[in-house]
Amino acid sequence: MLQADALHSLWSTPVGVHSFDRAAEVNDTLVRVLRALRATDPTNDPEAAFYASADDLLQRVRLTEWQALVQFIVDGLRQTVVLANQGAWPEAKPGFQIAIRGLWCQMSNRGKHHDVHTHGNCSWSGVYCLQVDDNTEREAHPVLGAANGVTRFYGPHFNHLGGAHMDFGNAYLQHAHMDIAPLPGQLVVFPSWLAHQAMPYDGRHDRIILSFNASVHVAQGSDQLHGYSSS
Ligand SMILES: [Fe+2]
Repeated sequence: MLQADALHSLWSTPVGVHSFDRAAEVNDTLVRVLRALRATDPTNDPEAAFYASADDLLQRVRLTEWQALVQFIVDGLRQTVVLANQGAWPEAKPGFQIAIRGLWCQMSNRGKHHDVHTHGNCSWSGVYCLQVDDNTEREAHPVLGAANGVTRFYGPHFNHLGGAHMDFGNAYLQHAHMDIAPLPGQLVVFPSWLAHQAMPYDGRHDRIILSFNASVHVAQGSDQLHGYSSS
C-alpha cells in the first residue's frame, strides 16, 4: 500500500490570475489615454509596430478609471502574495505594504515579440491586458496560430531540458512551459524570476498591455525572516 507521504512534489511556481470586473467600462478609455501619451512621447516612432512607454505611468496618469485599475492590480497582487507565502510567513501575519516599482505599457502588432527575460529588483511582476483581438480571431492566424500574442512562461524544469535525457519516466519534465492567452481585463501575477516572453503578435487590433514590478515589505521592522547573529 502506498504511504501518504511517499511523494513530495516540491518547489511549485505560484502564478495568480485575476479578472477585472470593470474592464469593459474602463479599458477603452485607458487605451485612448495611452495612445495620446504615445503620440506625445519624443521617443515614439508612430510608424513602428512596437512601442514601450517609460515605466513611470503610475504617477503620470490621473483619471478615476486609472485609479480603479491600479487598485484592482494591487488587490490582485495582495491576494497572490498572501496565498504564495502561506506556510512561509509567520502564523501571526505582520501588516505589509506593496510598492509598485515601475508600471509601463507596451503596444505591439505585425509580428513583434518580446524575447525571453526575467525582471530584476523586485519580487513580483505582472501583466494586465487592455486590448487584443478576440481569441477566435487571434488563434486563427495562418502563421502564428494559437500562440499568437500569448505570454509564454518557462518553469524551473525548462533549464533541465537542454540536451537532457527524455524517456517515459520523466514525462513530468516535458511540459516545461505554459502559455497564458491574452484576454482584455485579465491580470497575471508571477514571480519576477520566472522567465517569460511575449510571443509574436499579429492582429486587427494592437495588443496593448500594462506591465509592472512590485516589492513587498512588512509595515514595521525588517523584511528578513531569518536574521543573522554575530555571536
Ligand atoms: Fe516581462
